Amino acid sequence: MSHAADTAMRPLRFMPSGPLKGTIRVPGDKSISHRSIMLGALAVGETKVTGLLEGEDVLATAAAMRAMGASVERVAEGEWRVHGVGVGALLQPEAPLDMGNSGTSTRLLMGLVASHPISATFIGDASLSKRPMGRVIEPLSQMGASFEASEGGRLPLILKGASPAVPISYRLPVASAQVKSAVLLAGLNTPGVTTVLEPVPTRDHSERMLRGFGAELNVEVETDGTRVITIRGEAELRPQVIDVPGDPSSAAFFIVAALLVPGSDVVIENVGLNPTRAGLIDVLRQMGGQIEEINAREVGGEPVADLRVTHSVLKGIEVDPAMAPSMIDEFPALFVAASLAEGTTRTSGLDELRVKESDRLAVMATALAAAGARIEEHEDGLVIEGTGGEPLAGAENAIATHLDHRIAMSMAVAGLASRDGVEVDDTRPIATSFPVFETMLDGLKT
Ligand code: S3P
Repeated sequence: MSHAADTAMRPLRFMPSGPLKGTIRVPGDKSISHRSIMLGALAVGETKVTGLLEGEDVLATAAAMRAMGASVERVAEGEWRVHGVGVGALLQPEAPLDMGNSGTSTRLLMGLVASHPISATFIGDASLSKRPMGRVIEPLSQMGASFEASEGGRLPLILKGASPAVPISYRLPVASAQVKSAVLLAGLNTPGVTTVLEPVPTRDHSERMLRGFGAELNVEVETDGTRVITIRGEAELRPQVIDVPGDPSSAAFFIVAALLVPGSDVVIENVGLNPTRAGLIDVLRQMGGQIEEINAREVGGEPVADLRVTHSVLKGIEVDPAMAPSMIDEFPALFVAASLAEGTTRTSGLDELRVKESDRLAVMATALAAAGARIEEHEDGLVIEGTGGEPLAGAENAIATHLDHRIAMSMAVAGLASRDGVEVDDTRPIATSFPVFETMLDGLKT
């Protein structure tokens, strides 16, 4: 599964382009795709999924669910059938579960395994093996699971599930949908009621989908805004028909590209606009970006629209740190947009970016500075002095992407908005979330 393990690096130079024009449809949402397979694998009967993201991260989830007894089959492009084993009936995997580059697969599956009478070894690529798992080990240990992790609570690790697991009430110490989801998924096979207290709201796909699959899940909001999420365990999930909306995190690269490249006019169809995910669009609009929503509707229980994006001269702003969870994966793209805005963009409250697929504050600061942007790196954010619409100079030497798909795609966009182009040292990681990125980009060039 680890794309980096067996093939050579694939560098590519992204050159400035003329206007981007046309209509595209980005692949399915990664978060919803993972959850479709996991929940389908726990429901008894056939779950039908269309629009599934066929990226390496989701394929890692599919392989893991197969290894634990579910049948997960592709019938056509984006069209999958999952036959589940039922909550409580996951089988002991015979070999280590290879999570590749995927933090979401790892943390959510750790939740599932934690309340089953099985043990599993989780392994991953060099990037994933540096990421902190202590944040899920802690609550799942409280529920009775035991762990043998590598130093610092990292992969490879062995997880032995508890049977029965103990229901807990857990206040999230970090704003993380992955940690929230791990505890809720563990709660599925735990007798009684498991509670997660979420002081800062994060993406709510797990809550929506668990309810959609028939789990007894409730959300109440306390006066200080804390969300209290409860799930009753030993649930029975009913198979579903799911149409996965387009991934706003993938759309982000084309939104920013169309805003930055003069003369561009791009329509991106079927973009998921769940408010817990759509922060980038609000911020870009505050910066003066022209992003029009057309044909707003609902797909798979999620708000969706087509977006028409036209070239705009952006203005630097101070980004409200409270926006961070609703655009947590979009900061690398925002930093590129800010590099071409008029004036200064300040971001803060972004400590979490340091523990993504790479340290996205450090890596983007280095990458954009190499491409000619004016950047200051702070402990919890970047301050960027934009060019006022002038292209970036570009980068002669290859930009180090550190096995991070979003760094590669962001710097590809920086290349389009540069004078001399930007070389990305390795485009292979793009396949983790957006295998058709390059083809789609080429299709928009005029
Ligand atoms: C995800 C949650 C986010 C996000 C990741 C996907 C999910 O991580 O960065 O790409 O599907 O739950 P955190 O919850 O750790 O912030």
